[in-house]
Amino acid sequence: MEDIFVSSTNSYNILVGENLLKKTGYFIKQNINNAGFNIVIITDSLVCKIYGGVLKKSLMEFGFSVFMFAVPNKESSKNFSCLLEIYNFLVKCGITKKDIIIALGGGVVCDISGFVACTYLRGIRYINIPTTLLSQVDASIGGKNGVNFGNYKNLIGTIYSPSLIICDIFLLKTLKEKVFLSGFGEVIKYAVTFSKELFNILCEQNKNIYSHLKDIIIRCIKIKKNVIQIDEFEKNIRTKLNFGHTIGHALERYFNNSISHGEAVCVGMCYITEKSVKAGITSLYSFLKLKNLIKKYNLPTALKFNVEDIFKSVLKDKKIFGNVIRICVVKKIGHSVILTMPILKFRKFLNM
Ligand code: GLY
Repeated sequence: MEDIFVSSTNSYNILVGENLLKKTGYFIKQNINNAGFNIVIITDSLVCKIYGGVLKKSLMEFGFSVFMFAVPNKESSKNFSCLLEIYNFLVKCGITKKDIIIALGGGVVCDISGFVACTYLRGIRYINIPTTLLSQVDASIGGKNGVNFGNYKNLIGTIYSPSLIICDIFLLKTLKEKVFLSGFGEVIKYAVTFSKELFNILCEQNKNIYSHLKDIIIRCIKIKKNVIQIDEFEKNIRTKLNFGHTIGHALERYFNNSISHGEAVCVGMCYITEKSVKAGITSLYSFLKLKNLIKKYNLPTALKFNVEDIFKSVLKDKKIFGNVIRICVVKKIGHSVILTMPILKFRKFLNM
């Protein structure tokens, strides 16, 4: 098992390995000081059926009283009525400042649980146990949380670190292929923005992707850890982790969440890179390499959409500061930069 320490406002460890879920009770005793008796597991309906029992048993073995709350397994669960139901549940269970929330699930569960943990009693501790590739390499790390609002992605949220992350690679075995592959949208993002070495590893992968998965996941986690340690609250370099996301989030809204986050990010990365090739920032060679890698993981490189509609959604993006937007573009594989441009210039950029 790999133990990766993240130094941030609230420092924490990320445990990465196989078959970790059933040892969760032990890991909590080892890693969390002065934990209360109660643990609330927030999960989704699907994950609850497969892994809820194993987790509950492990916690009970170590003397915890366990409460379980499952949200529907879909993006639209990230809303205010779901939040209210969870707050009510926590009050009913008598959860206090000493107690702990465990988020057992993918990005939706991590985002909503982090927000609940940050706001309930002005903040209680929470642990992420990500069950998708996407949440193992990205959503569970770095404390970003939130809910969608007015159909805009993550419009309301905070940055609030977990106290522990347990990344059990074994849990990925039960994912549907489409959900699993969606995670490669984020993996490719890390590679193209920060690591030529990871990019090359991804290019060289053969059919048996599982044999290299742990190494790939650990590389992504370490990239994110290094970014967070420099810029937890996204004043500068953390913006690079949003490569492809400004367009990607707008696409998720445009297609009413019928495309996955990973698919949307891939199309977003390609769209923005196509424009940055035209603007003379990126070489055509790097763009073609990016597109080929995305195709290799059966993810889309383009979709038909109305650019003006996407631009309107972008106006609600968190990367807008007054009348400028901050976006990440790739200069060459493994090397990215942040551009700050007036919004109207960005509109022209999108239409190049
Ligand atoms: N998912 C991007 C970030 O955590 O900053």
